[in-house]
Amino acid sequence: MFDTKTRTLVVVGAQWGDEGKGKLVDVLAERADWVVRYQGGANAGHTVHIGDAKFILRQIPSGILHAGVRCAVGNGVVLDPDTLFSEVDRLVADGIDVEGRLYISDRAHLVLPYHKLLDGESSASKEIGTTGRGIGPAYEDKVARRGVRVLDLRHPARVRQLVERGVEHANGQLARFTDRRADAEATMQLLERITPRLLSLSEDVGLCVHQAIESGAAVLLEGAQGSLLDIDHGTYPFVTSSNTTSGGAAIGAGIAPMAIDAVLGVVKAYTTRVGHGPLPTEIPGALGERIRELGNEFGAVTGRPRRCGWFDGPAARYATMINALDSVVITKIDVLDVFDEIPFCVDYKYKGSVLKEFPADISVLAEVQPVYKNIRGWKKSLAGIKQWSELPTVAQDYLKFLSDYLGIPISMVSTGPGREETIHL
Ligand code: GDP
Ligand code: IMO
Ligand code: MG
Repeated sequence: MFDTKTRTLVVVGAQWGDEGKGKLVDVLAERADWVVRYQGGANAGHTVHIGDAKFILRQIPSGILHAGVRCAVGNGVVLDPDTLFSEVDRLVADGIDVEGRLYISDRAHLVLPYHKLLDGESSASKEIGTTGRGIGPAYEDKVARRGVRVLDLRHPARVRQLVERGVEHANGQLARFTDRRADAEATMQLLERITPRLLSLSEDVGLCVHQAIESGAAVLLEGAQGSLLDIDHGTYPFVTSSNTTSGGAAIGAGIAPMAIDAVLGVVKAYTTRVGHGPLPTEIPGALGERIRELGNEFGAVTGRPRRCGWFDGPAARYATMINALDSVVITKIDVLDVFDEIPFCVDYKYKGSVLKEFPADISVLAEVQPVYKNIRGWKKSLAGIKQWSELPTVAQDYLKFLSDYLGIPISMVSTGPGREETIHL
């Protein structure tokens, strides 16, 4: 994917998350110098399989498993220090040398215990079905200009003041729905414990990435969540609290949009969603459960069952436009091996007419009727196939149909969770 012209590449999820971004980033990182996470936080769960080992990365970029690749957490990420360090410790215990190649933006905001408490207790979070990792409350504090940034840890008196203000605000909120309260002292103790270690990793990541790009390095910007969960472009309010799309990559990594050379969108060959909100192609009952079993569609971190549906063309086409995707990576094609026919949603109908555009209003989205084209299944195992020519023609036809529908080429097809189970085109 990297060549003399394409040096800065964004990987985004083009559905509702869990498209297989972690696997793809790990595969692409083989040829990258830098991998940078640009938004989200420990709500992400990016799975990477190497041989028999399975890693689930939540805060650390999925390039970390390649020795020599520099990994950075950008200013747009909200950082949970305990999750970060437990991830580092697990990697080190597994023999991965992290020393000197993990950088945390000094501008990144911290997710603190009171953010998690608020996210866990508030009825708004329950209605959305958030991951409970404090993401929404941490971004709220960022926008309200009372957040704690990594660089604040260099100033103990300032941190105390910010924490006291954050806790006071959180307790005002908590009083509306629970007896539980946040504790400034406990938060200060946590911060005192993690400060030296976190400051030792803190960097002006935007500057580093900028310099890396200037020097011609191959830079991979790793998105979290998916385009339909974007705070501006997703199925609001059933979204996450950050800009997951390619525009967010520039902001969250600290570079200019013109510095991005290409955007790669990852889609599953079908659709999944965790949490609440409309999912037009959702498959109810036993068939939906079958796909969940076949695709092992359970949250990487929370274990929550993912809702499953057929490929949602209009949603993916919208994601193609919003992100200006240059190409698409199709994952989990092997999960569809068993079906005689594979329905592919080509249009939405709403009140008897075909909707031309993906609707902004979720009350419309909740009522659309998917129009399906049934595509012939291949009824043969695709697991582990590495060459396009080894795919049955019928499977090639499904993939070509998807690519033609989106109007962009396929750059890779994933046929299994392993690194090598990938077709490069
Ligand atoms: P991410 O959040 O986008 O990184 O995706 P997740 O890691 O949450 O979920 C993707 C799941 O599918 C993980 O368990 C991966 O190991 C697995 N996976 C990725 N690609 C493939 C594939 O092509 N086939 C199969 N069967 N599993 C895959
Ligand atoms: P990765 O990076 C799938 C969903 C939650 C919920 C909504 C808001 O692994 O693809 P939040 O905790 O962010 O406030 O929850 O967004 N969500 C994800 N769904 N994959 C993810 O990340 C997600 N991160 C958040 O389920 O519906
Ligand atoms: Mg995931």
